[in-house]
Amino acid sequence: MRWNTRVTDLLGIKYPIVQGGLAYLAYADLAAAVSNAGGLGQVTAMSLNTPEELRDEIRKTKSLTDQPFGVNFAIGNHGRPYEHFLEVALKEEVAAVSVTGGNPAPFLDFVKDTPVKKLVLVAARRQAIKAEQLGADAVMVVGQEGGGHLGRDDIGTSVLIPQVVDSVQIPVIASGGFGDGRGLMSALALGAEGIEMGTRFIAVKECVDASELYKDALVSGNENDTVVIKRSIGAPARAIANSWTDKILKIEKENGGYEQLKDYISGEANTRYIHNGLETEGFAWAGQVMGLIHDIPTTEELFGRIISQAEAIRKKWAE
Ligand SMILES: Cc1cc2nc3c(=O)[nH]c(=O)nc-3n(C[C@H](O)[C@H](O)[C@H](O)COP(=O)(O)O)c2cc1C
Repeated sequence: MRWNTRVTDLLGIKYPIVQGGLAYLAYADLAAAVSNAGGLGQVTAMSLNTPEELRDEIRKTKSLTDQPFGVNFAIGNHGRPYEHFLEVALKEEVAAVSVTGGNPAPFLDFVKDTPVKKLVLVAARRQAIKAEQLGADAVMVVGQEGGGHLGRDDIGTSVLIPQVVDSVQIPVIASGGFGDGRGLMSALALGAEGIEMGTRFIAVKECVDASELYKDALVSGNENDTVVIKRSIGAPARAIANSWTDKILKIEKENGGYEQLKDYISGEANTRYIHNGLETEGFAWAGQVMGLIHDIPTTEELFGRIISQAEAIRKKWAE
């Protein structure tokens, strides 16, 4: 069966599946595995320390796959200038760049006259319309189920996607809550032309930087085991519920503000959990889709399952 959509055509990929940017987790091994399996893998730029490190990671990815892959930029998170990183991505001629977390206007302006495909991850209809006006080639739209940073309006994926599809001309990639072939088919039915998955791609063998403890938590946990933190500072984001997120929510409830929160929500607190497996000393982003994660396959196995499940649904619908 063919899986062509405007998203596969735009990105030159076989299946309409994009691996989301994953702070501190999405490097060459994962990006190449996703691209080799027929999707679009992405290296997450702003988790790296220098533009040279990004160049090395891109070159490593190229050594592991001859398929297209992208570089993701979460531009709001670290407050660091991203221009030199972006220059590297352009110079290395990656297929796509994606941006989220801040005003995409300067970013899109920077890449305007280049052949790189321009993706913007948004969490609201108005942001999707703006991204299109600013020159995005496609928008990824994340609903409330998703892992990591979310929109402030609490709109679920199944309502947000058709709204955005009705509001823009460019292709829409649905994000938030996808993990299997049923999800892929539901996204296509909603008018999206592909899906982006974040949490599901942590629980694969090639996500080598995720601790065993993190992966085990994704497998053993269910859809009730996430919580939204950072709402009080206007940056809601979904994480695995644990004693650390309890502390964060307590500070938020007591109107603690950023100063009291900052050590609890820092990149260090994040990596203590996700890299070092220190469950009580940090936090880990994850979406509600963890309720649909039951094992740690290879990325290729995961694609095989998603596509065969989706193809079975297509056949059934065609009867
Ligand atoms: C651990 C983690 C880290 C993330 N880091 C980033 C990031 O650096 N850049 C980005 O664009 N999105 C990031 N996201 C969001 C994902 O790209 C994606 O939009 C989201 O995971 C989709 O929801 P899902 O988890 O239900 O698949 C992150 C998500 C998770 C779970």
